[in-house]
Amino acid sequence: DASLPKPIRIRLDETDPAKVQLRTPESDTPGTRVRVLGRVHRMRAQKDYVFITLTDGYGYLQCILTGDLVKTYDIMTLTLETSIAIHGEMRAVPPKQHAPNDRELHADFFTIIGRAAGDKEAITTRVAPDADPQTLYDNRHLVLRGETSSSVMKVRAATLRAFRKAFEENRMLEVTPPAMNAYLTQSSQLYLETCLPSLGDVFCVCPSFRAEKSLTRRHLSEYTHIEAELDFITFTDLLDHLEAMICRVIELLLADPEASKYIATLNPDFKPPSRPFKRMKYSDAIEWLVEHNIPNEEGEPHKFGDDIAEAAERKMTDIINQPIFLTHFPAEIKAFYMKKDESDRRVTESVDVLMPGVGEIVGGSMRMDDWNELMAAYKHEGMDPSPYYWYTDQRKYGTSPHGGYGLGLERFLAWLCARYTVRDCSLYPRFTGRCTP
Ligand code: 4AD
Repeated sequence: DASLPKPIRIRLDETDPAKVQLRTPESDTPGTRVRVLGRVHRMRAQKDYVFITLTDGYGYLQCILTGDLVKTYDIMTLTLETSIAIHGEMRAVPPKQHAPNDRELHADFFTIIGRAAGDKEAITTRVAPDADPQTLYDNRHLVLRGETSSSVMKVRAATLRAFRKAFEENRMLEVTPPAMNAYLTQSSQLYLETCLPSLGDVFCVCPSFRAEKSLTRRHLSEYTHIEAELDFITFTDLLDHLEAMICRVIELLLADPEASKYIATLNPDFKPPSRPFKRMKYSDAIEWLVEHNIPNEEGEPHKFGDDIAEAAERKMTDIINQPIFLTHFPAEIKAFYMKKDESDRRVTESVDVLMPGVGEIVGGSMRMDDWNELMAAYKHEGMDPSPYYWYTDQRKYGTSPHGGYGLGLERFLAWLCARYTVRDCSLYPRFTGRCTP
């Protein structure tokens, strides 16, 4: 109808009460004619009405088509995921009826932009929890259109935002170390250490790659690694900083109306962890595992020096059911660069942060800052020190007590959003046997 006023284009979240800042008089004035663009997320037809829930990646909007519009071929053959432009008037939803944000669009015009084949509808909109995981991974590009997967991706973005803000509040500078070396990088730590003298405390958010044979629900071949390095600190400073960072990030996320809404839906029982976090030495964890009859990988009682395997770690974390800073691992089972504890040189100033449901989400330590000790450590490991001259040099030109950590973003998200596997917290997960699509 050419006599109608020219519509104003709005995005679908402009009527979301959580996003007051987006609201304009145009998007929320009764009687204003608007134009929305999106894809059909849900639809329901009655005799004279067709209800379409439209989504554009920003929000959801219920659109109501009536009269001649519903008698068209395009609407009678409409499929989910078809992209469409709809013009109409925004109105409040009548009392006792429900629609996203209590708004609905009364359409007076539409155009189909791109039809969707009807075959994969089941995958795209509501991921059947019992669907074959391989089928879901093959169709990850469509699964991502579902409400659950897209919510996790939105919490992921909000988490990265919160980490960056919390780092900034700690006066830490973001750097971008190389990801490609002779091999793909497993960690940016050694580069971060070289930044301290000129840049102060630093962090990075980079992909890390692991040749993990383990097909577990918490191992990816490529993951997003949030790493940080702090100068002139003690081990206690490192633990205090880690606890403060984790709590601040959660505080920022819960203060974010959009992220907190998704978290509440994905993980209704989520409660921010209480402080201070439990701090437990590796040797005490070994005793705890023995007392609770949780055996090591050989099926024998744990003894000092054993790696605490994933299954045992998870059992312990789930029973204790609160974040744990597991500290002071034996030097023999940890990386060569970790600083030894002066009061017990069998162990290192190291920490793993364990979360219920997931287990380890952070690994960190103080770094060996003595040149002679580092050279001895290379020798002990059978490593040729020459390619590491640039790393070793830090100990030669004004060394300092320093330390840092790496946090696996997908593991943090699996904990926060109560996902069974880290694979659901990655845009396109890569793990043993999968590097498509
Ligand atoms: O404990 P990791 O191996 O520690 C390091 O790489 C140190 N250089 C970090 C540092 O001090 N800058 O890895 C750190 C974290 C783990 O706690 C875990 O959350 C995550 O990285 N991670 C993985 N996440 C998903 N898939 C994998 N295969 C992972 N391996 C480690």
